Amino acid sequence: MTLSPIRWGILGTGSIAKQFARGLTSDPGSTLVAVGSRSAESAAAFASEYPCTAHASYAALCADARVDAVYVASPHTGHHEHAMQVIGQRKALLLEKPFCVNARESAEVIAAARQAGVFCMEAMWTRCLPANRQAAAWLTAKAIGDVRLVTADFGFRCGWDPTSRLLDPKLAGGGLLDVGVYTMALAWLAMGGVAPTTIKATAALGATGVDEQAAMTLSWASGAMAQLTCAVRLNTKHDAVIYGTEGRIELPNFWHGTTAILHQDGQSSQTLELPFIGNGYTHEAIEVGRCLRAGLKESPLISLDETLAISRGLDECRRQVGLRYPNER
Ligand SMILES: NC(=O)c1ccc[n+]([C@@H]2O[C@H](COP(=O)([O-])OP(=O)(O)OC[C@H]3O[C@@H](n4cnc5c(N)ncnc54)[C@H](OP(=O)(O)O)[C@@H]3O)[C@@H](O)[C@H]2O)c1
Repeated sequence: MTLSPIRWGILGTGSIAKQFARGLTSDPGSTLVAVGSRSAESAAAFASEYPCTAHASYAALCADARVDAVYVASPHTGHHEHAMQVIGQRKALLLEKPFCVNARESAEVIAAARQAGVFCMEAMWTRCLPANRQAAAWLTAKAIGDVRLVTADFGFRCGWDPTSRLLDPKLAGGGLLDVGVYTMALAWLAMGGVAPTTIKATAALGATGVDEQAAMTLSWASGAMAQLTCAVRLNTKHDAVIYGTEGRIELPNFWHGTTAILHQDGQSSQTLELPFIGNGYTHEAIEVGRCLRAGLKESPLISLDETLAISRGLDECRRQVGLRYPNER
């Protein structure tokens, strides 16, 4: 496998697939070589906007010998099947969030990737952003003492289209899987990757039956807790704060953040403006390239064990609020 530059294939031609293609252009260590779509027309239209080879099926994309790594950008409900196709062709895999619809599917994909010995990572792009990584560095250095409380919200108001992937239960719609997953990942980051011992969730299920907004309280054995909220029919601030015994870390607009603020008790606060290369998605492509060149099978920025634990956490939230998707295995 030629590792420099990483030759990317993109599976799917929707909105985030286009964002990722744009993001790749800001990473000299990446090049887009192919796209795969369920239709020849969509593949050709994508390839005319983002020059690359157009494949009229996902299978053809995954079989393309020039592709080193595939970014899977299908709706949540396609992640398991499409990830398995990528792994089956022994390509590196960057799989959009949420990794899979439920923990059972996530565990199968992770086991398959590990068995095949291929790189696999959830496209939790926030973890790759320098602002989040600065927060992680402060936490490791115990800059705020012991973490006791995390608050994070991620809500946006989508238009009312019951057939959209955000609202349609057949496409695993709802806030928990679409954006609650980011708040969960932030809480896990704050707690050093340790899973909570208790999760309590409540949600407002809308007319299509999916959670339009939800609140989660997570607790750890140490007494630390996280208060997380998410929504797909309500604009919220997207702020995250990690409170410790000796101060706090603020990540304004943490989903898209460029700023990390450290308040240490009794000292003046420190505000860092951090890089945001390209459209931000560039950072996850850079991280995949770094891992592949280092021979890693997963990224230390978001381990597969953490991805699986977060997937279990989301399952538990949906169980408590009574949200099960049709045809869910
Ligand atoms: N990281 C982020 O910031 C971010 C932001 C938005 C979304 N996402 C994630 O990215 C994934 C895709 O989201 P999106 O907003 O890009 O969705 P989208 O615009 O609806 O595009 C999804 C694409 O998946 C393909 N697809 C395969 N099976 C499909 C099906 N049954 N129904 C519809 N499309 C299907 C289609 O491509 P073809 O027709 O070409 O096959 C479609 O264009 C989701 O899992 C979402 O959570 C991440």
